[in-house]
Amino acid sequence: MNKPSLYQAEIVGTGIYLPEKVLTNADLEKSLDTSDEWIFTRTGIQERRIAQKDESSSTLGAHAARNALIQAGMTPEELDLIIMCTSTPDVLYPSTACFVQKILAASKAAAYDISAVCSGFVFGLSIAEQYIKCGRYENIMVIGAEVNSRIMDWTDRTTCILFGDGAGAALLKRTERGETVGILSTHIYSDGNYTDTLMVPGGIGREPVNHEAVDSKMYCLKMSGQSTFKMAVKRMTEVSRECLAFNGLSTEDVDLVVPHQANRRIIETIAGKLEVSIDKFFINIHKYGNTSAASIPIALHEARESGKIQPGNLCLLTVLGAGLTWGAAAIRW
Ligand code: UT7
Repeated sequence: MNKPSLYQAEIVGTGIYLPEKVLTNADLEKSLDTSDEWIFTRTGIQERRIAQKDESSSTLGAHAARNALIQAGMTPEELDLIIMCTSTPDVLYPSTACFVQKILAASKAAAYDISAVCSGFVFGLSIAEQYIKCGRYENIMVIGAEVNSRIMDWTDRTTCILFGDGAGAALLKRTERGETVGILSTHIYSDGNYTDTLMVPGGIGREPVNHEAVDSKMYCLKMSGQSTFKMAVKRMTEVSRECLAFNGLSTEDVDLVVPHQANRRIIETIAGKLEVSIDKFFINIHKYGNTSAASIPIALHEARESGKIQPGNLCLLTVLGAGLTWGAAAIRW
């Protein structure tokens, strides 16, 4: 892998949007054979957000993107490209990104979706980084937005307690500040041998909509929890080390790790393996659960807002999701 680049990309604005409706562990206790104690000790989750009927990935994502534009002091017309990272698109086609483009009135922007599930935002960041570094585009909005509540089997206590809805966005801009700031590098991987580990098996291609598929809940998420857990620890640790080494950095150089929020125990195990204090990991899973592609941009925004990321800081993002897909990014602020 050669380090590019004509130009450098930096994040000049972040924004989030969370649906108002809160679903607590206590609420789930009423309909499932589960407990607040089990969910909190095994996952770190206390509550999650649920989209209203008239909300979808495009509306949540557009809110988050608008907030990122406001923070950056920019207008939608300045956007060259919108990359929408979602595994819960509004419709099969057109892309959810096109709905977002319409809502924002980002008339100049090309817009498309990418599907890397929980890794979506880091994959999107990687695409945006390349467009900016080669000089093709100047301003790119990368959005992670999900309505996971729409693909849950609400009778399956091994999955429905984990996920939530939400959106986060980051506005990337070509910077003249030199190549030691901004997105230092992104590293993305996939292994299709593990497609069965985490999957929504029903879909228009393989299993056209029919009563049998609906009755057997094929349009709901199915997960092999323990193998996903083990792969998350292994791959997120591995790719974090690779990302730092690529930039000639060590774990001691990292000011803040912003990991995918899938399970607090995954994050704690990775912290142990990397020998980085858990205090250097930003964790907000207690509030939102696993919001898939929205998880990292929501955490990144909240980390900035809480003052945990200061100018000059080095931030490491790391993620694993269905595919399997995984990745990491190093960002100097
Ligand atoms: O974003 C993509 C990445 N996703 C992930 O990384 C998720 C990774 N996996 C996990 O986070 C964990 O594997 C889970 C949270 C899904 C499950 O935790 P676990 O510690 O691996 O539990 P387990 O599957 O080993 O189940 C232990 C017990 C079982 O009962 P028995 O067989 O020991 O009697 C389960 O039936 O806990 C039971 N159980 C529950 N009990 C109460 C499973 N779910 C629940 C529940 N409430 N919600």
